[in-house]
Amino acid sequence: MLSNLFLSTDFSQKNWQSIASLAAQFRNEGISPSSNLKNKKVGILFFEPSSRTKWSFEKACLDLNLPYMSSQVDGTSSKSKGEIDADTLQLYIELGFDLIVMRSAEDISLQRVVQQNPQQKFINAGFGSLAHPTQAFLDYFTWTYDCGLKPQDTKLLILGDLKHSRVARSHIRLSKHLGYGLGLLASKGLEMTQSELEDYSHVKIFEDRNEALNWSNLVMPLRVQKERHDKDQSLTIDFPPLSYKDLRLDHHIMHPGPFMRGSDLESDLVSDKRSLIFKQKRNGVFCRAAILNMMLLGG
Ligand code: CP
Repeated sequence: MLSNLFLSTDFSQKNWQSIASLAAQFRNEGISPSSNLKNKKVGILFFEPSSRTKWSFEKACLDLNLPYMSSQVDGTSSKSKGEIDADTLQLYIELGFDLIVMRSAEDISLQRVVQQNPQQKFINAGFGSLAHPTQAFLDYFTWTYDCGLKPQDTKLLILGDLKHSRVARSHIRLSKHLGYGLGLLASKGLEMTQSELEDYSHVKIFEDRNEALNWSNLVMPLRVQKERHDKDQSLTIDFPPLSYKDLRLDHHIMHPGPFMRGSDLESDLVSDKRSLIFKQKRNGVFCRAAILNMMLLGG
């Protein structure tokens, strides 16, 4: 039984393949509610803002007929009275859920609470700049099932603010695990460190934008993640928004969202026929429903 999804590598290749098959079945035939899930309960606990991740987990629960409670830790919770996040998480565990979906900053005290409660199943829905495994998986699912790309034919280029990107870090791990091609192009001052890339010699590091675009067949620009920048920093992306002239006919455009029109990419590209952006959002529900199903029922 799968108990915890913190990093993409917590699940084996075989687990991910089973989840992809189930997500594809949900997409083709509709998400079938299982009577076995009626007795399960999911808690969705977000310490950080979200639209697509939170809403797609909620929609997946609705489609699966899986009871859930969704909570935002903000000015309306006891955080406003001074409760620390670790105590809020412990409270949530005590409420009694079969599985908790959680998003937070990279907070070691929360990780400690998770480790102290090994009986509690967790899904990481974004942890600071470190990991966002369900996003990387739904991206992989999208190019596999919408474009028919096999891992050996996939050349995903991620460009922009790599330093603060949990999506890029999850793709680094997942690309090694599942065997697809990954290239990175960081904006000046927004690079990852050399040491964190040491174990990932398969990742191509680019410095020239044209060379990177020529190599790729999937292009994923990232927004500047200002919310994770040091307060005294005001770095911006030092290359222009992705535009029509950058792309070949066989390129596909992806974005984890939220996308900044006119800054990450030209606005019209969002709905261009080469764009997979809206497919990613839709597939998020099928992929998250499949992950919930596998973790709660084991297949
Ligand atoms: N991609 C992503 O995590 O988007 P949200 O912050 O809207 O959930």
